[in-house]
Amino acid sequence: MKTDSKREETEMIQVSFQLNGEPVQLTVSPVMRAVDLIRNELGQTGTKISCGIGRCGACSILLNGRLAVSCLTLAYQLEGISVETVEGLSDQSAIHPIQEAFLEEGGFQCGYCTPGMVMAAKCLLDSNPKPSEAAIQEAFSGNLCRCTGYGGIIRSVQRACSS
Ligand code: FES
Ligand code: FES
Repeated sequence: MKTDSKREETEMIQVSFQLNGEPVQLTVSPVMRAVDLIRNELGQTGTKISCGIGRCGACSILLNGRLAVSCLTLAYQLEGISVETVEGLSDQSAIHPIQEAFLEEGGFQCGYCTPGMVMAAKCLLDSNPKPSEAAIQEAFSGNLCRCTGYGGIIRSVQRACSS
């Protein structure tokens, strides 16, 4: 008879994907969430966890360029795809123009929602470089700011498109 730990061991899954342009390969439990893999196994803690049930967007990342909540994505589902987190937007020498715009417009208060907001903004501007205010509001419909700083967030996206 298999013990629980033996069963878990035999069910581990190998997953390979690109994280911010770098190849990653590791073995995961079939029930591990992508957000836990990214934060705990890969050390990229810019992606936040808040609600944990797909309602707030704090854990937003891009999967093959599409916005996704990593708390409702299982780690093995990353197999073969391109994963982008907020860490992938900047390098040692410069931050991304969207991040610059958030700084200039005060697009955050406590900042906890900001990585998810920035990823939602990137997803929007990659497909629509000059969105209307209505399009910006629509793009953020899955992202909640508990500090209610929506005015600054929208101004930040507008500044990012004009820069
Ligand atoms: S933590 Fe994932 S949507 Fe809220
Ligand atoms: S800035 Fe605090 S939750 Fe958005």
